[in-house]
Amino acid sequence: MADIKRILAGMTVREKIGQLTQYNANLFVDTDAALTGGNASMGLSDEDLSKVGSVLNFKTPCEMRKIQEKHLRRDRNKIPMLFMMDVIHGFRTMYPIPLALGCSFDTDIVEKCSRMAAREAVAGGVQVTFTPMVDYIRDARWGRVMESAGEDALLNGIMGAAQVKAFQGEDLSAPDNIAACVKHFAGYGGVEAGREYNAVELSEHIMREHYLPAYKKCLDAGAEMIMPAFNTLSGVPSICNSRLMKTILKDEWDFNGIVISDYGAVLDIIRLGVAEDEKEAARLAFENGCDIEMCSPTYFHHLEELIDEGVFDAKRLDEAVLRILDLKNRLGLFEDPYRGASETEEPEIYLSAAHRDIARNAAEECAVLLKNDNILPFSCNVKKIALIGPFADNHKIIGVWSCNGKDEESVTIKQGIERLVPNAEIILEQGCGDEWDDADKSGFDSAVKAAAEADIVILCLGEPQDYSGEGNTRADISLHKIQCELAEAVSSANPNTAAVTFSGRPIVLTSLAKNVPAILHMWFPGTEGGAAAANLLFGKANPCGKLSVSFPELTGQCPIYYNHLPILRDREKGAHHPFCSNYIECESVPLYSFGHGLSYSNFIYEDLTLSKDEITAEETIDVEITVYNDSNTVGKETVMLYMRDVAASNARPVQQLIAFEKVPFGAHERKTIKFKVTEQMLRFWNNDNKFISEPGEFRLSTGYADHLILTKKFILK
Ligand code: GLC
Repeated sequence: MADIKRILAGMTVREKIGQLTQYNANLFVDTDAALTGGNASMGLSDEDLSKVGSVLNFKTPCEMRKIQEKHLRRDRNKIPMLFMMDVIHGFRTMYPIPLALGCSFDTDIVEKCSRMAAREAVAGGVQVTFTPMVDYIRDARWGRVMESAGEDALLNGIMGAAQVKAFQGEDLSAPDNIAACVKHFAGYGGVEAGREYNAVELSEHIMREHYLPAYKKCLDAGAEMIMPAFNTLSGVPSICNSRLMKTILKDEWDFNGIVISDYGAVLDIIRLGVAEDEKEAARLAFENGCDIEMCSPTYFHHLEELIDEGVFDAKRLDEAVLRILDLKNRLGLFEDPYRGASETEEPEIYLSAAHRDIARNAAEECAVLLKNDNILPFSCNVKKIALIGPFADNHKIIGVWSCNGKDEESVTIKQGIERLVPNAEIILEQGCGDEWDDADKSGFDSAVKAAAEADIVILCLGEPQDYSGEGNTRADISLHKIQCELAEAVSSANPNTAAVTFSGRPIVLTSLAKNVPAILHMWFPGTEGGAAAANLLFGKANPCGKLSVSFPELTGQCPIYYNHLPILRDREKGAHHPFCSNYIECESVPLYSFGHGLSYSNFIYEDLTLSKDEITAEETIDVEITVYNDSNTVGKETVMLYMRDVAASNARPVQQLIAFEKVPFGAHERKTIKFKVTEQMLRFWNNDNKFISEPGEFRLSTGYADHLILTKKFILK
């Protein structure tokens, strides 16, 4: 390990400021890496560039090596650069998007995927990943819902913490581990109208109840870095929001890791009208604890001046630099600045059979069987298959934050089916395009003809993968009109039709669900998506995913989420009463609720028992839920425990997930799943910012959101 305090003592102020800056690789080498923001000229001298402390958006390990070598030749202090990248759902072997990973309710799956990504990323020259993104979400119109684990804070936090632990391992210096940066702090998922980069207005109560817990879980899991969000919160940009960055992050949570801005977010303080100029922006960001400025030059241009003017004590600069030198030291960069970066661009580990197996298994476990009127699974002895739709033979299913993943390396549904049922004749018909406004029905006739002649029809539909992700909000999240019309025409020609759908967000499937007897939702499943879909369609794998987010009946219901507060005069499904909480056009509940997901097994929830019907704050309740697999099909079921606090000083959600366990069942196997309920699990953040429980009646249920069963009551004394 290096003596970083000695190194620090020998650095000039400009050299120290260099450690607080991060720029795109394309300022240092020729690269065709995709940029994740603008690339305005930073107005930096070559001298300044020689002092830069970290790099993002490079493409290959060779580029990383070239940048590092050149830097170390020039750097007087021989401080290695830090190389960071958005390894969101895979580095080269892509696995399902995080919103899909949430549907697995399985930290083992998340851990296997993240470990694989870390191994591939290290070979690619990555030392820090800007992952996990744990922004709590409620509005499916927002493009970045695909990066989150969904609308439940408990699930989001568990999935985020699992990623942190898997990426960082026990010892950061171990060759296959990379540092994790949790993001975006805080409340980015609450952008108004789902509009990217828009303002966020959330009460402290809602923030603490839903939007903040997952970040805390990730920091408690040891995340080395945190990235403030682009958005303002109550009018103050997150990056210079002292409530967030000082009171909560530093004072309450005692975070002493590294804070890195989002891309150009320091300059955004000016654009948001909260700083007059660059110098003011630099002051506000540094004052609120931003250690590394990503892709903007305000620290280089003004921090030295601010220190000379006595606005900041030089000690604060040293503290920030030490945090960065310490991370580089613990990553072992002073001993090995290349840290496992492959000498070639195609290390043998990328897309290995073992990695493809991990990706395929994850895709199988994340898929959600939304509807199945006794159509699926299809038989492998089928003779003629009509494979129809824009996703029937489409490689673009790996997801939009695809890092070094390549669409063309994915397995399409057609390829997956060909491998699984090689003797079947496949009639392939695209039927229509995949753009939202496509109106060309010239492919319908041949699609309908193919359907009519086939034994089974597999409709492959959805939104293009570049309709989600950063900057891609949708004003209408309905499955495209032409695809709904194609589905209606095809399923009329052959009712033995199943739809496979792809999306980076919940999409409105109401029309599709009226016209087809089965819907298997794959999200964007990654490199092995088509193979996983084939296995699920033909019963080689049994669907077990449960929705991590609600699917609205109509876009106009957004934001819609399961853990809402009681709604006065809410109406039951199907009714419409005057002076009630009605939608004219649709129900008041989603088409598919959080926690929904079918299986080829038949799970019967037989009983839920409590060990006590009243407890003190010091006692616990043992809950037992008995489930029977009334089928010959082996399968997994995520058994969920929901709680309702019937009356408290704050209105409480009508249902909230407080525990879950994913359980394997053999054929005709009965199991009793046990949970312990403690007083801590009954707490909530009141309007005095106290995390408390209150005596009174509580209800415990199982099943899934909006479909709670076996409810039992108990009293907290
Ligand atoms: C982007 C994203 C952030 C990402 C960063 C670096 O704009 O907001 O999630 O980590 O820039 O690519």
